[in-house]
Amino acid sequence: MQILNWKIQPELKKEIDSHYRTDFAISLKDSNPVEIIKKITFDNVAPNITIIDVKKFFKYINKNFLNKKIKGVGLEVGAGPGFFSAVLADNKKVEKIYAVEVCENIVTELMPVIADFVLGKKKSEKVVGVVGEFNNLELKDNSVDFVFDFFSLHHSNDLQKTLSEIHRVLKPGGVIFCFDKARADYLKEDDLKNMLDKEYSEEAKKNMGVDVKERLTRRMNGEQEFRLKDWKKYFMLTNFSNFEHYNIARSDSNNFFVRILKNIFSKLPPKIQIFFTSKFIDPDKETYNDLSSENRVYTKLVNNFPKEISLIIGTK
Ligand SMILES: C[S@@+](CC[C@H](N)C(=O)[O-])C[C@H]1O[C@@H](n2cnc3c(N)ncnc32)[C@H](O)[C@@H]1O
Repeated sequence: MQILNWKIQPELKKEIDSHYRTDFAISLKDSNPVEIIKKITFDNVAPNITIIDVKKFFKYINKNFLNKKIKGVGLEVGAGPGFFSAVLADNKKVEKIYAVEVCENIVTELMPVIADFVLGKKKSEKVVGVVGEFNNLELKDNSVDFVFDFFSLHHSNDLQKTLSEIHRVLKPGGVIFCFDKARADYLKEDDLKNMLDKEYSEEAKKNMGVDVKERLTRRMNGEQEFRLKDWKKYFMLTNFSNFEHYNIARSDSNNFFVRILKNIFSKLPPKIQIFFTSKFIDPDKETYNDLSSENRVYTKLVNNFPKEISLIIGTK
């Protein structure tokens, strides 16, 4: 697998070198690929997820929300070990995908193993590993057809800068689609601060390979909280011509009747679901996960994912 090195700001490089993921990557380098994917991509909280689930989900998103724009040259920002890049590269219409990740050990030790596992040795060349940062993309203007993010852009310390870099490299008409967190607009600044200052549980620390005695908050892990209105603002400020958001929700529930109802709903096309969900879901009413409920769509395809997903789409 080809691995490129792009410039990383010295301050960020220093931060990453002492980040828990740097040692965690080394500790996983002799594990089997399925373990690596479960532990690092899914933080050990999605025990039942399979590659087939993920492939089916991308197919569903491509057809129903992206007008089949997953093709040509792609870019994944904050790619981790590049599992999603490899799944995206499995699509015949994708020529290659740059998988950009700031943590060097993840790229050099884990990404080649995952690309070979998902794609086989020959096709794995379609994934180009990049040790780099998403605020400095060493790609030409208008050179990329699609960009993907899986819970990474909420790690950006300057979302406007990150999105303007992404906008620069996208071709006109190209899309960025994010599986990320768009918090509900009812949340106040103080609510967001409290979310970031919350300490990870012992269980979560264990899953991340962090000493349970070490203090670790989401803020210390480089996370930010963006509400739907914040995402919208940054996409508009960076000149995207179109912004869309969908709340991709699970079709399962502990309540038998709710489960039946959600299952029936999930069989309907997204547009029809949204017609009905927008009538009975109030976006100002609290949700259990504090994600925006605007444009809710139920699908069984996220039942095995670690969390429900805010699908954010920007078109250049
Ligand atoms: C929550 S993880 C997302 C997991 C990843 N998408 C995957 O599929 O495994 C966020 C990832 O973004 C990376 N990251 C954080 N800041 C970054 C930056 N400025 N540029 C590139 N990657 C970054 C982190 O190192 C981490 O691997």
